[in-house]
Amino acid sequence: MTEQQVKKVCLMYSGGLDTSCMLKWIQEHYNAEIVTFTADLGQEMIDPSRFKQIEEKAKNAGAVASYTVDLKEEFVNEYIVPVIKSNAFYQGSYPLSTAVGRYLIAKKVVEIALKEGCDAVAHGSTGKGNDQVRLDVYVKAVAPQLKILRPMIEWGMGRDDEMKYAQKHGIPISNQNKKYSTDENLWGRSAECDILEHPNEVPPQDSLEWLSPPEQWPDEPEIIKIHFNQGIPSGLNDEDMSAYDVIEKVHKIAVKHGIGWVQSMEDRTIGLKSRETYEVPAAEILIKGHKALEKYVCTKEENSFKTMVDQKWTEMAYEGLWLDPLMDALNAFVNEVNKKATGWAKLRLFKGKAEVVAQDSPYGLYDLKLATYDTDSSFNQTASYGFIELFGLSTRMGYQMKQRAIKDLEKE
Ligand code: ARG
Repeated sequence: MTEQQVKKVCLMYSGGLDTSCMLKWIQEHYNAEIVTFTADLGQEMIDPSRFKQIEEKAKNAGAVASYTVDLKEEFVNEYIVPVIKSNAFYQGSYPLSTAVGRYLIAKKVVEIALKEGCDAVAHGSTGKGNDQVRLDVYVKAVAPQLKILRPMIEWGMGRDDEMKYAQKHGIPISNQNKKYSTDENLWGRSAECDILEHPNEVPPQDSLEWLSPPEQWPDEPEIIKIHFNQGIPSGLNDEDMSAYDVIEKVHKIAVKHGIGWVQSMEDRTIGLKSRETYEVPAAEILIKGHKALEKYVCTKEENSFKTMVDQKWTEMAYEGLWLDPLMDALNAFVNEVNKKATGWAKLRLFKGKAEVVAQDSPYGLYDLKLATYDTDSSFNQTASYGFIELFGLSTRMGYQMKQRAIKDLEKE
């Protein structure tokens, strides 16, 4: 890493051990001024007043300015809604909660850095994860003039060194849940490190923060009805509300039933495999409900193609390529398909599981008159003769020709 000259740095600051050490370290090491930026993405769900403490902590550690920005609405409308519309479960299970949050953080840190006249930004990502890719690609694309500092790599300290550094510099360390490295926002929570790094070990209950243990899950199932307007969550149980409110309310119901616990062997952008655990209660329900509704209003061809587009969208959003022009094109397609994704899905929540049990839409392509097995169906069954004749033509011929070829080969 070449040493760079920087004068004023906007630090993406969570108030945790890593970024707290960074606040001091950058001042000392670069002799630079620090502006801190803390994004409120709904991570301090249990105690939002913590943001005040984080700001205090930054000021006490010598920050010349501190920004805490409430990004919850923007996060939902511009980042989570696209995840829902794209049915985005990376590798089948992870709804990109950390991933899309990073793009919004990158967008805002650039705004603040430019406003404050900073010549650099700094973040607490390591050299092993995906976040470095997401943040750096974004910042380098929109503000190539800004330098990017990555103290986690530059300073060569391990966790123990950081503790010592913090003690030496009077940085207060909270000892709550320090076993795990976590990331949290209103769309999900991830936990890594400690025993979770051993994929052959069952993740212990203490690595969860939102979901109750199985013994406490209710013995009665609960059915909830999620409404969508053009693919956007718009109501719960016949009550209209904003997408943000739907997420908040569904979260509360889902955690009770233990919905949305995920563990997966994840393929990171840089090629490493990592064992990840997540709590994604609202995401599990809303994406499943959306997908069921979308499938109901789309043709067979649309459903087939949308699955491929969703897959590509999800991988690019995961990998750090949010600003790639292809994403605009994929979004245009996703939005076009979602124009008719209006209606509702009902899900049954029971003992850690959410399953879609019914759906309805004014644009549903299901036609009872055609589909019914009753004799009064209006479907003309004799039309199938001609269809099968032509539809199977190429396969029939191919099969017969292959048999002939096999016989010829046997004769040789
Ligand atoms: N593997 C997930 C992702 O790449 C979660 C990462 C959690 N990040 C973190 N800094 N703890 O999106």
